[in-house]
Amino acid sequence: MSRIVVLTGAGISAESGVPTFRDADGLWEGHHVEDVATPEGFERDPATVLRFYDERRAALGAVRPNPAHDALARLEAAVGEELLVVTQNIDDLHERAGSRQVLHMHGELLKAWCTSCDARHPWTGTLIERPACPSCGEVALRPDVVWFGEIPYEMDRIVDALGEAEIFVSIGTSGAVYPAAGFVQHARRHGARAIELNLEPSEGTFFFHEARHGRAGELVPAWVDELLGA
Ligand code: APR
Repeated sequence: MSRIVVLTGAGISAESGVPTFRDADGLWEGHHVEDVATPEGFERDPATVLRFYDERRAALGAVRPNPAHDALARLEAAVGEELLVVTQNIDDLHERAGSRQVLHMHGELLKAWCTSCDARHPWTGTLIERPACPSCGEVALRPDVVWFGEIPYEMDRIVDALGEAEIFVSIGTSGAVYPAAGFVQHARRHGARAIELNLEPSEGTFFFHEARHGRAGELVPAWVDELLGA
C-alpha cells in the first residue's frame, strides 16, 4: 500500500553535482535535448548519443547521495512499503542512499537495453564501441533510458500508487515534462494531500496544497523529520 508517493527530478541530485536539464542556456551538458534524448537523434548520430551517455555513466563515479536522498532512505526505513519513490532521474543516487522501493520511470544509466532481443543488462562500462548483447550476440545495445517520444516505464504501477496515496510529494522537478507533471492532479483527484519541495515554483506549483521553496538538501530532511514526528 503506497501511503506516501514521492516524485523526484533532477533537482534532488543537483546538490550531489549532477547537472539539471533546464538551465538558463536550455542545453543539457552542452547538447540540445533533441540531439541526445530522442530516438531520431540516436538514429541520426548514434556515436554522439552513445558517447554522451557513456560520459554521464562515468560521471556517476564522482558523485554521492546528498542529505535529500538520505532523508528519503530514512523515511523508507521507518515506514517500509508505505513509501514509493518514483524518480525521473537516471542516476542511482536513491539506491546508493539506501532506498529500495524506487521506480525509474525514465530508465537507468547503469543498464543497457538490447533492441534486438529486449534483454536489459546491468552496465557500468561504455557502449560507444558497440559491444554485442550478452544474451543474443546482436550489436543492438542502447542506453536503457526513456527518450522524448517514448513511453515511460512502470506507468501502471505508478498510476495505481498515485490512486492509493494519502500524501504526494514532488521534489526537484520543473513540472515541464509529462506524464510526471500530471501526477499531482491524479493523486489529488484520489484524495492525496500534495506538497511541492523545489528550489523555485515549478510550472505546476498552483496544483499543490502546499509549496516550500529552497534547496532539497534542507527541505527534504526537514519534511521527513516533520512526518516522523522527530
Ligand atoms: N533543490 C531543489 N530543487 C532544485 C535544486 C535544489 N538544490 N536545484 C535545482 N532545482 C530545481 C529547479 O529549480 C528545477 O525546477 O529542480 C528542477 C529541475 O528541473 P529540470 O531540470 O527540468 O529536471 P526534471 O524536472 O527532472 O526534468 C524532467 O525532462 O529532460 C527530461 O527526461 C528528462 O527526467 C528529465 C525530465
